[in-house]
Amino acid sequence: MATEEGAAVSVDDIAYDALLEWVADEVAPYVGEGRVADYIPALANVPPDRFGMALATVDGHLYGVGDFQERFSLQSISKVFTLALVMAGDAGALRGRVGVEPSGNAFNSLIQLEYERGIPRNPFINAGALVVTDILQTQTGDAAGAVLDFLRAESGDHTVTIDGAVAASEGEHGDLNLALAHFMAAYGNIENPVDLTAEHYFRHCSIAMSCAETAMAALFLARHGVRTDGTRLLPVLGAKRVNALMMTCGAYDAAGDFAFRVGLPGKSGVGGGIVAVVPGRAALCVWSPALDPHGNSVAGVEALDRFSAATGWSVF
Ligand code: DON
Repeated sequence: MATEEGAAVSVDDIAYDALLEWVADEVAPYVGEGRVADYIPALANVPPDRFGMALATVDGHLYGVGDFQERFSLQSISKVFTLALVMAGDAGALRGRVGVEPSGNAFNSLIQLEYERGIPRNPFINAGALVVTDILQTQTGDAAGAVLDFLRAESGDHTVTIDGAVAASEGEHGDLNLALAHFMAAYGNIENPVDLTAEHYFRHCSIAMSCAETAMAALFLARHGVRTDGTRLLPVLGAKRVNALMMTCGAYDAAGDFAFRVGLPGKSGVGGGIVAVVPGRAALCVWSPALDPHGNSVAGVEALDRFSAATGWSVF
């Protein structure tokens, strides 16, 4: 925890459980601040007063506080895993189809796509994630199933599943995402039928996991590409690249603010989750459903800010 001078106390001396309890107490006033995503009923009905946080360390320990075992909708957090799977299959497949620059625009913005001729700025805005899903669909024949299988294996829980009600609702309210996909198809940047790619995108966004499961599933990024079973998903360079994209693009048009405050690669979702990576040490996931205007969990960002300040864990 931070001293009066602001210096971090060595975490080697701190029980992680106590540290997480301290973070939860610190951010309690922020829980419920903001707005729960309301573009589909299945997300709008999630109680805003939830807060959970989990820490999974590279040596296999798991710590949690609050509602860290309650499942929530991964939403855009799933884009990290989709990207990693595509890179594991053939990183070259992304070349020329999606960029690596922060967008500075809302995650579902159409405007940039037009003047960049159907090539999305990065893999984490919706347009970019649709292209990545399209590539994974070509690589595997079942993009959402591939993401689900990976998350089940890494979290160690085979009951992790796609929330069918959320997926159906995403489809019913999916006009903007379909518009993005059709626009890119017009430029030849979606190779499968648009409806099929969009369906797989909606389905992997609708996977429900807890903070504990999500932190464990992201550990390969802290282990420089090595999975829970010791096999390698990505080369060291690949893991570095996913982490770099999370740092620069993971919180959309608030990515600068997130880097400034938290200083860790992170990825948010409109379900209120944020996953963060401490390379070489740990993966974290925090969840609290109420969002700021950019779509990032208010209490979640506060919690990661407190955590990185207290531990001194940051890539800077
Ligand atoms: O495409 C959508 O709008 C949602 N399924 C995912 C959006 C999301 O989580 C954006 N992140 N903050």
